[in-house]
Amino acid sequence: MMSESSASSCSQCSYTYGDPVYWDARYLEEGLSSFDWYQRYSALRPFLREFLPLSSRVLMLGCGNALMSEDMVKDGYVNIVNIDISSVVIEIMRRKCAHIPQLEYMKMDARDMSFFQDESFHCVIDKGTLDTLMCGTNAPLSAFQMLEEVSRILKPGGTYMLITYGDPSVRVPHLNKIGCKWKIMLYVIPRPGYQAVDGCSSSKYMEPVPLTNKGLLPEDFVLEDPDSHYIYICKKMNESLEGDPSVADAATL
Ligand SMILES: C[S@@+](CC[C@H](N)C(=O)[O-])C[C@H]1O[C@@H](n2cnc3c(N)ncnc32)[C@H](O)[C@@H]1O
Repeated sequence: MMSESSASSCSQCSYTYGDPVYWDARYLEEGLSSFDWYQRYSALRPFLREFLPLSSRVLMLGCGNALMSEDMVKDGYVNIVNIDISSVVIEIMRRKCAHIPQLEYMKMDARDMSFFQDESFHCVIDKGTLDTLMCGTNAPLSAFQMLEEVSRILKPGGTYMLITYGDPSVRVPHLNKIGCKWKIMLYVIPRPGYQAVDGCSSSKYMEPVPLTNKGLLPEDFVLEDPDSHYIYICKKMNESLEGDPSVADAATL
């Protein structure tokens, strides 16, 4: 599992995750098998169905060999472009999904998506790809380049859905570094298979966790599962909404 220190210095991080050569070798070895990092679509479905209309044009950033996009199509999504830096996995997925017209696969570096026009997607989904860049060399620069590209290709009002192990102290600063204003809603869900001690209902994970005005978790927030995953629903705001206190702003950090 990837992890990084709270200062984003990647002290416990495997640098190989940030290296495309690692991913090509891994996908060659995995062949036709599939693997979803962190969470499967079934667990994320309530968030997608609430925030992303089925007709959305979706970009899956760093798709890997996850089943996520195929599961989304089975659920009614109609237009998903999948990109990955690994030519190996793109070739495998292109062949595997050739019979699914709703899915397109392209080899691309998320830090340079100049192939796509400005404001051409309703939604960008990132499950584990920013985390991967955070494990590479020049991590802050890579994160900046990728997030700038994400904000450029999103339509105004569009959504960047970030699924990550990174808590707000290590993710919100990166989101705020680029020129874009985001309205951020945060959800925290336990890892798959986690048994809640009090056996409480999973519906509580559908409650957003309010961020402080410094973009942090509230002081009294209790992290039930230490290996929880964070879902950031980042809505790209219009310039005219500057000054809205609910909009995350680097100036408050
Ligand atoms: C942790 S895996 C997540 C895969 C998939 N999203 C999932 O949820 O299972 C990260 C993926 O990001 C891809 N990746 C790494 N750096 C990338 C970059 N600069 N641009 C695009 N994809 C990248 C890797 O090849 C890998 O498939």
